[in-house]
Amino acid sequence: MTKKLLFVCLGNICRSPAAENIMNHLVEKQGLGDQFICDSAGTGGWHVGALPDRRMRAAAKERGLDFVGSARQFEAMDLREFDLILAMDKDNYRNILALDPQRKFTDKVKMMCDYCETYTDKEVPDPYYGGSDGFDYVIDLLFDACGGLLKSLSQK
Ligand code: 4NP
Repeated sequence: MTKKLLFVCLGNICRSPAAENIMNHLVEKQGLGDQFICDSAGTGGWHVGALPDRRMRAAAKERGLDFVGSARQFEAMDLREFDLILAMDKDNYRNILALDPQRKFTDKVKMMCDYCETYTDKEVPDPYYGGSDGFDYVIDLLFDACGGLLKSLSQK
């Protein structure tokens, strides 16, 4: 069974597209491309249609990765469509569940950092208003979290 994963942040131009691209990279590396479908979305709609942030793409490029994507806004239908929804921070988590007033899909929504194996962060920090270090940090943290997520899903 193909598992559909949705990564969610605020703008869908920094953290969640990074998570989507890193997860796809790890999935491909393990030859599991036919088992997962990954997507990402933002709880806000300001950047709809935009590529991942230039600074995030530059940080990825330094590691030989090409981050692709076009920003879109998270919508209530996503709760139905996806098997697992990964929130980058607590605000994202709250805003996702605000679209599920009957609490039908709560179990599908998880915090991305719950899957970290090395890092102890509880949230993926928003790098948007900071320097380039923040983008590098997000990539390292997401490699850890995506690796843990892939392990946990592969065991099921
Ligand atoms: P993201 O970062 O949620 O990781 O995509 C942000 C992108 C844009 C804004 C804030 C955070 N913004 O305020 O426009």
